[in-house]
Amino acid sequence: MLRFRQSCSRPETLFKRFASSSFENPEIFRSTALVNGKWVSGDDQFPVINPSTSEEVSTVTNCGVAEYNEAIGDAHKAFKMFKNTSPRERSQILYNMYDLMSEHKNDLARLITMENGKTFADSLAEIDYSASYFKWFAEEAPRIYGHVIPSSSSLRKQIITLRQPLGVVGIMAPWNFPSAMIARKLAPVIATGNACVIKPPHESPMSALALGWLAEQAGLSDGVCNVLPTTHTAAIGEYICCHDLVRKITFTGSTKVGKLLMKQCANGNIIKRLSMELGGNAPFIVFDDADIEKAVNGLISCKFRQSGQTCICANRIFVHESIYSDFASRLVAVIESGFHLGDGFSPKVTHGPLINERAVQKVSELVEDAKNKGANVLTGGVRASSLGPQFYHPTVLSGVDETMSIFHTEVFGPVASLISFKTTEEVIERANKTNVGLAGYFYSSNIQTVLDVANELEVGMVGVNGSAISDAAMPFGGIKNSGLGREGSSWGVEDYTDLKSIVLGA
Ligand code: SIN
Repeated sequence: MLRFRQSCSRPETLFKRFASSSFENPEIFRSTALVNGKWVSGDDQFPVINPSTSEEVSTVTNCGVAEYNEAIGDAHKAFKMFKNTSPRERSQILYNMYDLMSEHKNDLARLITMENGKTFADSLAEIDYSASYFKWFAEEAPRIYGHVIPSSSSLRKQIITLRQPLGVVGIMAPWNFPSAMIARKLAPVIATGNACVIKPPHESPMSALALGWLAEQAGLSDGVCNVLPTTHTAAIGEYICCHDLVRKITFTGSTKVGKLLMKQCANGNIIKRLSMELGGNAPFIVFDDADIEKAVNGLISCKFRQSGQTCICANRIFVHESIYSDFASRLVAVIESGFHLGDGFSPKVTHGPLINERAVQKVSELVEDAKNKGANVLTGGVRASSLGPQFYHPTVLSGVDETMSIFHTEVFGPVASLISFKTTEEVIERANKTNVGLAGYFYSSNIQTVLDVANELEVGMVGVNGSAISDAAMPFGGIKNSGLGREGSSWGVEDYTDLKSIVLGA
């Protein structure tokens, strides 16, 4: 068990090692856990590694079950006070978070590039995206409405519904958006008057700790937001799921882990609310009447955003046979002339590394399997080992079909798999032939095709003639094995509240 001691300052040695990164405000660089308003460290530490350089960015406090138990208890106490704050007060804290994120944007983006590897430009964009959730929920906090429903049995009765906070929310977040995926969960926690315990990903805990620090500066009471880095992922996941004081779990990650957490939640003594944003296998369909240039550009940003490491990345690219070779050659031309792979801090770099060796290995195996079964490599198809062990060349494969593993697997890497199709009915059937349904995209200039395909695709979110779908205003989430619930938007409030009905009158 860790013995916690409060640390008032960052370990000087660690700070010096990264002074070259020139943080405008060194306080953003946190390496200890945040529990009930105290920054606490212990003897157990783990390293955070920059995926571009394999350098150690920092060592971070490694929390265990005892610390989580303490934090959950503290969050529960904090919740009892925080639920009584006025909506306007909570809104102001969220506006403060938004302002602080804008003020410290460069430092926050620097942290993301250091621990995740994405380009600095992408990290800046992530901070804007992350901050937009705080602004959105600042606007939602005072507008969490109920209803007045006339009773069906008597004119003298009225039914009133209220939305009430849940209690302690367990937040489990992924490494691919170290800031935004936590913001999408933390912002509604604060807006609705809940409290939370955040288990950040061990690959990128520092952005989460920075958010905890910003929440403090924004005026959030002690204990409402606790951030506990850990490498004991499986044990802590199970612990949070079974803990009786945790009322809700929100998780973004793989379907496999999501299912496991659901089972573990069922083992606890109380039924928990669940929001699960799980894996995808997004179809991206280009019809013969599409604007091809627009579709190529849409695919570039959707497929290769963060080197293909997003849950809503295009995974299977269906192109009508009549425009297939034109589309493929334009795509390859843009990649070969416009992409620069390398360290995310280098200004000319457009695409960074994958998160770890396991991710590169998975991509290599999927490409090899596709090649062995008849796919052609139009560009890439190999590791970029001269840049470092975690780089893989942006790749386009043609002739992909259902016999290949890459058709059925979420790649989570920079590989565009091109598949030819003939008819609308055929492509809809093939696009839906998967047990996940997060996002889907298609390009067509025919209004009837637009209406029909948007209706038929079995996904939670559809991009039509555009691929930049992410927005704090959009209900984010999937169907089938891609999860439960919606985050962001006004529906994001529903997932963080209970609906209470009050029946008035005889
Ligand atoms: C994800 O990859 O899970 C999130 C992507 C986004 O919000 O844009």
